[in-house]
Amino acid sequence: MVIPENSSIVIFGASGDLTSRKLIPALYHLYAADKLPKSFVILGVSRTEYSDQSYREKLKESLHQLEKTEPSKLDAFCDHLHYQAVNTSDCEDYAKLVTRLDELATQYSFEHRNTLFYLATPPSLYSVIPASLGYHGLNDESDGWKRLIVEKPFGYDLESAIKLDTDIHQHFEEHQIYRIDHYLGKETVQNLLVFRFSNAMFEPLWNRNYIEYVEITGAESLGVEERGGYYDGSGAVRDMFQNHLLQVLAMVGMEPPAQINADSMRDEVVKVLQCLKPLDENDLKDNLVLGQYTESTVRGKFLPSYRDENGVADDSRTETYVGVKACINNWRWNGVPFYIRSGKRLPTRVTEVVIHFKNTPHPVFGQNAPENKLIIRIQPDEGIQMSFGLKEPGAGFKAKEVKMNFHYTSLQETGMLTAYERLLLDALNGDATLFARSDAVRACWEYVQPILDYKQEPKALFGYACGTWGPKEADDLLARRDRAWRFPCKNLTDTDYCEL
Ligand code: BG6
Repeated sequence: MVIPENSSIVIFGASGDLTSRKLIPALYHLYAADKLPKSFVILGVSRTEYSDQSYREKLKESLHQLEKTEPSKLDAFCDHLHYQAVNTSDCEDYAKLVTRLDELATQYSFEHRNTLFYLATPPSLYSVIPASLGYHGLNDESDGWKRLIVEKPFGYDLESAIKLDTDIHQHFEEHQIYRIDHYLGKETVQNLLVFRFSNAMFEPLWNRNYIEYVEITGAESLGVEERGGYYDGSGAVRDMFQNHLLQVLAMVGMEPPAQINADSMRDEVVKVLQCLKPLDENDLKDNLVLGQYTESTVRGKFLPSYRDENGVADDSRTETYVGVKACINNWRWNGVPFYIRSGKRLPTRVTEVVIHFKNTPHPVFGQNAPENKLIIRIQPDEGIQMSFGLKEPGAGFKAKEVKMNFHYTSLQETGMLTAYERLLLDALNGDATLFARSDAVRACWEYVQPILDYKQEPKALFGYACGTWGPKEADDLLARRDRAWRFPCKNLTDTDYCEL
């Protein structure tokens, strides 16, 4: 295990939700597992005034609410927490940050000034903060590395994404920028690569010759909860599809990297994203479905329509569902559709990839040949299910579909890292393999921009009742070819219990 070098972690947006819900718990777990540097500082920065003590109390309380903590570990962890109020929109005010970092470096006897800056702020500050850091020389690596983690969204559309990238690159070089996509931090997303490239029995089949089509589902049963204000300006395409699901698609579709390192991996990721067939006018009409949830009673509970959610406009046309038939124009995938969908208020929370293999060339055992199918379950009930044909016991020769399952819970290994733990640790260690590179982000926006333009069309949006699998038009995406979406349950294996 590589322990990161002594460093300071500066979190902008320190009083926000992301910090207390994700970042601090992740850092606490890393600390409790002895994975953080020997000497480290966590410095929270935002406009609100806190003392170190009151900031510690605030975070301690939210940690308590989230999970079990060990009191002595928690106290020791909190000793590393500090706070500095800065008006982050005012460049001059960053002088306070410089002074505070100097003081802390002395207090902790840092030999080098390694610093990880985390932008957990509203996106409107994503250009402002790096510029102010640059102005005060906090991007200078002559006395230790300086890294910048940027949360999604990396831009709002293609144009703003290019601008954001240019702005940040004025002050930080690409090797210093870590664009976080928490899906890449998920163990099961990383496993897509290991599963594909460490098994000679799957890899030869992983192409247009043997695969009929691929499904990628990112379903959520929750609605927009308290995030209506943000979500209404975003929608499913920006919130889930442009980043998380296209990254999953890249993991399913990419070529094997020569090595597992940031350059080799991300070279392959960007290649496959750049091969996505641009959506033309016909695709937008025929191969894209956008939906918005409407009120319904699900399992006895009334669920309001999207437009009735807090922070959402009464006449909102924001999509809470997106379904796309995507094609990858390259040697491996030509002609294989990737059906991708994501939505809120669907029947259950599940993220999975389903690989549908082609039928055998001749149906020796009757027309209803069993499907050869691999279900790679990213969450929950993480695992893999493989279906194949077997002789139905008894007289004659009839084939019957059976399933073989692997569940992560059956592994002996404990101590799996959560996405944020893994990614924070990688950033501290200078490993950018699981972070989105500038060219990949751009390729995703290039693919998505026609959808964003099309969203304005009055006919582009369909309704679907809460608790259903999206608009019925989404079924037609596959039904035209006699195919159907899988209707996954909360549990990977089809048992008697299913949420539906
Ligand atoms: C976030 C989106 O990036 O991912 C949320 O903003 C979404 O809207 C979440 O709910 C899903 O993440 P996970 O890890 O729960 O699948």
